[in-house]
Amino acid sequence: MSTPFVSILMGSESDLNIMQATADTLQQLQIHYEIKITSAHRTPAATQQFISDAESRGCQVFIAGAGLAAHLAGATAAHTTKPVIGVPIDSGPLNGLDALLSTVQMPGGIPVATVAIGKSGAKNAAYLAAQILSLSDAALAERVKTERTANAEKIKSQDQALQSSLK
Ligand code: RP5
Repeated sequence: MSTPFVSILMGSESDLNIMQATADTLQQLQIHYEIKITSAHRTPAATQQFISDAESRGCQVFIAGAGLAAHLAGATAAHTTKPVIGVPIDSGPLNGLDALLSTVQMPGGIPVATVAIGKSGAKNAAYLAAQILSLSDAALAERVKTERTANAEKIKSQDQALQSSLK
């Protein structure tokens, strides 16, 4: 049986500085992933081919990041029934609002779970994929919980440092 993995797609190399946060977070959670530049508009046939191929190789969740008229996540969702998470990227003059609306406003029956614009969204896409995969992977579910606890501890120690600096 093939190892389950997450496919990260992005519309252009210019999206990589944001989508790297998805890759880093998946890596941190020890989730197998692959990363691909492919465009809904510039390489539509290759995008479709990649999605079918990834699915046949064991992809369980797709994460698609794109900017401007961001149709990559929607185009991905059109070609698979695996969960698709869309990351709107602030690569244009509208600061990602265009990408947010293009990604989130899917017609009924073809869902895209759309996360926040930019780097927070790119991170959350990885956490959401982890939470989906952890439904059938108890060890991963534990790693996700440990990560939450570590995040909480970080905030608490930030506050402790703040309080001490005020004394
Ligand atoms: C979108 O157009 C890409 O996802 C990128 O965010 C944006 C700009 O692409 P480049 O012109 O930088 O290649 O398709």
